[in-house]
Amino acid sequence: MTPEAARTADRSDGAGDGDARGGDNDGAPAPAPTGPGRVTVRGLTLGLGGGRRGGPASVEVVRDLDLDVAPGELVCLLGPSGCGKSSLLSALAGFLQASRGTIEVDGRRVTGPEPELGMVFQQTSLLPWRSIEENVAFGLKMRGAPARERRAAARDFLALVGLRGFERHYPAQLSGGMQQRAEIARALINQPRVIFMDEPFAALDAQTRFMMQELLLGVWERVGTTVVFVTHDIDEALFLGDRIFVMTSRPGRIREAIAVPFARPRSLELTTAAPFVALKRHCLDLVREETLRSIAAAAPAAAERVVSPGGRQAPPEAEPPSPPASRRGWTASPSA
Ligand SMILES: Nc1ncnc2c1ncn2[C@@H]1O[C@H](COP(=O)(O)OP(=O)(O)OP(=O)(O)O)[C@@H](O)[C@H]1O
Ligand SMILES: [Mg+2]
Repeated sequence: MTPEAARTADRSDGAGDGDARGGDNDGAPAPAPTGPGRVTVRGLTLGLGGGRRGGPASVEVVRDLDLDVAPGELVCLLGPSGCGKSSLLSALAGFLQASRGTIEVDGRRVTGPEPELGMVFQQTSLLPWRSIEENVAFGLKMRGAPARERRAAARDFLALVGLRGFERHYPAQLSGGMQQRAEIARALINQPRVIFMDEPFAALDAQTRFMMQELLLGVWERVGTTVVFVTHDIDEALFLGDRIFVMTSRPGRIREAIAVPFARPRSLELTTAAPFVALKRHCLDLVREETLRSIAAAAPAAAERVVSPGGRQAPPEAEPPSPPASRRGWTASPSA
């Protein structure tokens, strides 16, 4: 399966053709639908923990969240640490069960992980004992594709992400950026309707990160898959996204949907242009406000110390209360 074939593959079952807007996030228009990959979330509530005696009580991470992503759209999720971005992404990809509400991709309920919902994490999940080619071809192997077909497809997708010549290497023999490129190829080979990416470039140095962003845009423009991308980096969100969803503090909802008006292809110069800087400032203000809100919710006294009566804000003395969640050992709380 070549990248072009992936784009044009017939996946007509259930791809709706209505307006992608709706819910509480329709402040910005979604682009016209072009193919499969529509994500529709209604009234989503996610609870975590509370499964073990003596463990932490159940936490409502996301509450009544509505979200619409149009086919082929690249959207970024921004929000304060601990607001539920990773939890939301895990639920969208089928790894985490909803307590309430629905998630649909092309009109079909998401009830568990599936190859058509690709996921790329910050840390590599490549199998260290398999070659890069075997890692990338793994999804096809699971689906019983013949060896020759698997190898040809893996090579095509490795070439697409600039890893031609590294097929026989093992993950430990690649740099962090190269491993993330292999992760993207591994997700793409399954012809995903949507790829969910959770801070995939956060561990990379600035230069490599920018190259990865450009690479992702190039691949996305060729393959046309919907991408939902979580980041803390506002520049990254503005550089990549068609739209940015800014989440509230926990329990997370969509506070604002922002259409990114910059034409593509986007260049490095854009990041210092006045309209870019103005939009960045707006995003920064929203995230800051929500971060202060989450501090206030957890420790009102500490929040009072960081926000003086005159409204001037001093640097926080207390650490934000929500440590990054471990991606392992999640337990969904019982359905409501
Ligand atoms: N297994 C768990 N049990 C209970 N609470 C959890 C569990 N995993 C995560 N949480 C809590 O859920 C909330 C949301 O976590 P999540 O990882 O989704 O946030 P995030 O927005 O991705 O944060 P960050 O930006 O730091 O990555 C956090 O407050 C976290 O403490
Ligand atoms: Mg996270």
